[in-house]
Amino acid sequence: MKKIAVLTSGGDAPGMNAAVRAVVRCGLVAGLRMYGIRRGYEGLLEGRFEEMDNYSVSGLMYSGGSRLECARCPEMLEPHGPEAAAQILERREIDGLVVIGGDGSFRGALKIAEHGIKVIGLPGTIDNDIPGTERTIGFDTACDTLSWVIERLRDTAESHHRTFVVEAMGRHSGWLALFGGLAGGADVILLPEIPWEHEAICQTITRRMTEGRTFHLVVIAEGAGRATDLVSWLQANLDGELEVRACIPGHIQRGGTPTTLDRVLATRMGQRAVQALQAGRTAMMIGEAKGELAEIPLTEATGSCRTIDKELYDLAMTVG
Ligand code: F6P
Repeated sequence: MKKIAVLTSGGDAPGMNAAVRAVVRCGLVAGLRMYGIRRGYEGLLEGRFEEMDNYSVSGLMYSGGSRLECARCPEMLEPHGPEAAAQILERREIDGLVVIGGDGSFRGALKIAEHGIKVIGLPGTIDNDIPGTERTIGFDTACDTLSWVIERLRDTAESHHRTFVVEAMGRHSGWLALFGGLAGGADVILLPEIPWEHEAICQTITRRMTEGRTFHLVVIAEGAGRATDLVSWLQANLDGELEVRACIPGHIQRGGTPTTLDRVLATRMGQRAVQALQAGRTAMMIGEAKGELAEIPLTEATGSCRTIDKELYDLAMTVG
């Protein structure tokens, strides 16, 4: 192995930069030539490679977003996309590719690997929904941000006797809503994985009101419904008893400086990706389980969404 390239793909996540930094620095220490690819697979197909040295990744530990830039690339879903990508890598004599992204990015990675390029995936997404890893790079930071939002809304909720419905990111997965909601002290958490009914929320809120609660904090994951719809429904059905507002922090949840946990995870995973490529492994994802890193076949990491921790959900509802 002489040359390794790294790209970030899909939605950006805090800690992706720290992972790139670790991949580049560990590769350089191992005597390899290291390349960054701008704008994910789109940039790969356009040949946007740049050789990286120690200085290129300086300061990346602290920054959010992706300095290499991200893109969602529909071409990689067509058969010609991965084939062209593999050919470009081959022409440039790149022996190994590190893909930092979510499940969509891994599907592309798997197809490139099928064309003979060694590929290792690092799970980088705020959704934490990738099978084979208990944590993805960016999840911890996004949870911190979401709980920070809820905490601050509580001030107004309490002061004005208002109810807030906070919409958490997560098109298919409720991990962020669950962890961020639990940490932020949400009273009700609605997830795409757990069926819910408007009437049940009404009942919960009515019960809370009879107990003397003057405000309620509801978190709804994107995939479970829209905050604005729920606000309209609550206003219409609680017959003026409730002043309800929606808060949609949106991409604020994807931004910001990564937490210590994300920085350390990203750095450890970055090092392991280089080691795996050097050992000749391919089509694997570096995952983490019980604090230990492990290599998991990309086929397992792309199969489905990682199922939610139902016990934690029950606990969140018990204490909320
Ligand atoms: O996958 C990460 C994520 O932030 C999801 O939580 C969200 O549903 C989606 O990306 C939003 O994507 P985009 O930024 O392309 O609108």
